[in-house]
Amino acid sequence: MDNDQLLLGQTLSFSADPFHHDIAGSTDFLTDGAVLLRGGHIVATGQAQNMRAAHPDADITNYGDALLMAGFVDAHVHFPQTAMIASWGKRLIDWLNSYTFPEEMRFDDPAYAADIAGRYLDLTAAHGTTTMASFATSHPTSVDAFFTAAQARGQRVITGKTCMDRNAPDGLLDTAQSAYDDSKALLEKWHGVDRLSYAITPRFSPTSTPEQLSALGALWAGNPDCLMQTHLSEQVDEIEWVKSLFPKSRDYLDTYEAFGLLGENGLYGHAIYLEDREKRRLKEVNAALIHCPTSNTFIGSGLFDMAGLKAANMRVGLATDTGGGSSFSMLRTMAAAYEIGQLRGTPMHAAQLLWLATCGSAQSLHMGDKIGNLAAGYEADLVVLDLASTPAIAQRATRANDIWEAVFPTIMMGDDRAIVDVWIGGNRR
Ligand code: GUN
Ligand code: ZN
Repeated sequence: MDNDQLLLGQTLSFSADPFHHDIAGSTDFLTDGAVLLRGGHIVATGQAQNMRAAHPDADITNYGDALLMAGFVDAHVHFPQTAMIASWGKRLIDWLNSYTFPEEMRFDDPAYAADIAGRYLDLTAAHGTTTMASFATSHPTSVDAFFTAAQARGQRVITGKTCMDRNAPDGLLDTAQSAYDDSKALLEKWHGVDRLSYAITPRFSPTSTPEQLSALGALWAGNPDCLMQTHLSEQVDEIEWVKSLFPKSRDYLDTYEAFGLLGENGLYGHAIYLEDREKRRLKEVNAALIHCPTSNTFIGSGLFDMAGLKAANMRVGLATDTGGGSSFSMLRTMAAAYEIGQLRGTPMHAAQLLWLATCGSAQSLHMGDKIGNLAAGYEADLVVLDLASTPAIAQRATRANDIWEAVFPTIMMGDDRAIVDVWIGGNRR
C-alpha cells in the first residue's frame, strides 16, 4: 500500500453554502494547514503542526503559502468541442451548424475520439479541474473514448451519448429507438464502474422529436439514479424555435417535463430566460441549473440571474460549457460569473465564487458528499493554487488584508499558471 501523503499549505474548505450563511460561518481557512491523503481519500485535515506530530511517517509535500482546496468541478462541458473552442462570430444556432456539428461528425472515428478525450482531460487537469459532466457526441464510441481516458487517470467523470434525431446533419442523427438502445447499452457498460457515471443526454429539445424525448424519459424512469443533462432557455431565438417545434408546450421546460425529462437528477444548462412557471417547477422537483458564464457572453446569450435563483433556494452549479465557453479554466469562469453578477448589480463574494466552482457544482451533480470539499471522507481531488502566479497578480496580492483579498486577483486574472499541482484520486498528476 502507498504511503500516506501529508500536504502542507494554506487550506480552504466549506462548512455551509456562503450564499445562505455569512462568509466566516461557512468557510474554514488555515494559514498553516495540512491535508492527509490515504488510499485515494482525504482522511484528515487540520493545523500543520498537529498533523505532522500525529502522522510522523507520512510523505510530506510542503506547498508553502500556496492555497490547497478541492479540485474544480465543471458541471457542463462538451469535451468533443475542445478543438473548435473560440470559433468566431456566430450566435447559438449558426454556431452549432457552422462549427459544432461539423467537428462532432469527426467522432465516428475512435482514434480521433480517443485523441481529443485525452487532450481534453490533460488540458483541464492543467487548469485544476478534477471532475466534469460532459456531453459526448451522438457516437457511442465518443462515450467509450471519454470513459476509457478518465478511467486510466482515476478520475470521477460523467458523460453520456448526445441524442439527436432531427435538425442536425445526417452523420450525427440517431433515432428514438437507437438513442434508447445505445444509451441503455452504454449505461449498463459504464455507470458505476470505478469513478464513472452515465448521464442520459438529450442535446436539447430542438434536436429531438417528441418520440425521442419520450424514449429517453422512459430510460430515465428505469434508471432514476442516473443524471440527465440537457440545455434550457439559452437564447431568445432558440426559445422561439422551441415554441414553434412544440406548439402544445406551455414553455421550454414543458418540452422536457411532458416526456418524463424533469426531475431532481436533471441538469439544465444555461437557464437564462426562465418563466415563472418554469422556475416554480424546477424548484418543486429540486432540479439543478448550470450557469455557464463565459459561454453566455461568448455566444451572446444573456445574463443568468444567480442572485435571484440562489435567493429562491435553487440548486446551481458552475461550468465552462467548453467549447461554447471560451476557456477551459474554472478561474476564468468564476471571473465571468462575477462580471455577469456585476452587470446585474449583484457582485458575488470570492467565497461564493469558489464555493460554486467546487461544492456548488458537486452538489448540482449529487456528488456533494464525495467531491468538491477538503474534508475527511472526501475523495482526494485537490488543486494547489499559487496566489502570486504572475507579476500583475503578485503585486496586487501583496496589498491583501485577508484571504479573500488575496485570492480574488487570482480568480479575476489567473489561468493555468496559477495551478501549482493537481491531485486526482490521491495521485499527483
Ligand atoms: N445547445 C444545444 N447544443 C449546444 C452546445 O453544444 N453548446 C451550447 N452552448 N448550447 C447548446
Ligand atoms: Zn452545452
